[in-house]
Amino acid sequence: MAAARVARVAAPAAQVRIHAPAKINLGLEVLGRRPDGYHELRTIFQAVSISDRLLLRRGHTGIRVRCPALPALGPDNLAHRAAELFFARSGVDGGVAIDLEKRIPVAGGLGGGSSDAAAVLLGCCRLFGVDPGEERLRAWAAELGSDVPFFIAGGAALGTGRGEIIRELPPWRAPGEVLIQIPPAGLSTAEVFRRLDAPRLTGGRRAFTILLALWREQDPRRFGAALFNDLEGPAFSLAPHLVGVKAALLESGACGAQLCGSGSSVAGLFESAAAADGARRRLRGRFPGSMMRARFLPQRRRWGVVKR
Ligand code: C5P
Repeated sequence: MAAARVARVAAPAAQVRIHAPAKINLGLEVLGRRPDGYHELRTIFQAVSISDRLLLRRGHTGIRVRCPALPALGPDNLAHRAAELFFARSGVDGGVAIDLEKRIPVAGGLGGGSSDAAAVLLGCCRLFGVDPGEERLRAWAAELGSDVPFFIAGGAALGTGRGEIIRELPPWRAPGEVLIQIPPAGLSTAEVFRRLDAPRLTGGRRAFTILLALWREQDPRRFGAALFNDLEGPAFSLAPHLVGVKAALLESGACGAQLCGSGSSVAGLFESAAAADGARRRLRGRFPGSMMRARFLPQRRRWGVVKR
């Protein structure tokens, strides 16, 4: 795609701080394999309150990404590629230094890398005072990965296509309290999708439309009971102990529990903060890895999370 010069709309900033939240999937239906190798799916994305932190600074020659938690990060990482894509598509001539503080577990299905990429796109727009518009930003985001467009606005959204076609959903008004078990080892998204092709592992068609109707009804128990994720079959066959994690979350009072995206994290949805905190105490130390408490996050206000 050729560079399309975008209008400057604000004074450039010397530096920008931006949060990059994690996501969970509430329902994920795989409809089939596409000729391009991706899978057609339907999912509800929900942003949650575990966030990476990014600091972007202008005045750097070229692109530099530094992340103390991942010292081996190379130019193929999504944050770096997002900055490259920003300069290529916007026509802005410049460089950026990015400091990335990782708090979202890697390869857990929580969208950390995708969210960092969206934050870099948003942060660069603010840094250089340009506004390509939401539609074009989402198109740039889709070039970076299937989950990246969701993170442009975050909140709650329906994702279709390979996950990159985003339609905003009404916010969840009931308590959105979450407990997430993060196993020590992640799962490869590509590997989980590859396994889905084995016919014995693919589930039948599920009533995703019912799940969407229950989202609008906003009764946590009824919504939680209707949750499903077609990627659980292949993910659980790669990591069988996840079956026990899911069962333990449900036994501890979760109204629903589900693999996050392609895993390896499993999230439980609770009716109240007290219920989630109680489950966290009961499950502490029961599984290897860590437990994280989070709550649903609303949509980003336009530039609202960006601070100089
Ligand atoms: O889009 P992204 O780069 O995040 O996808 C990683 C891999 O996961 C793809 O290369 C593909 O193998 C698989 N995938 C898929 N169908 C999707 C999303 C991802 O098969 N909808």
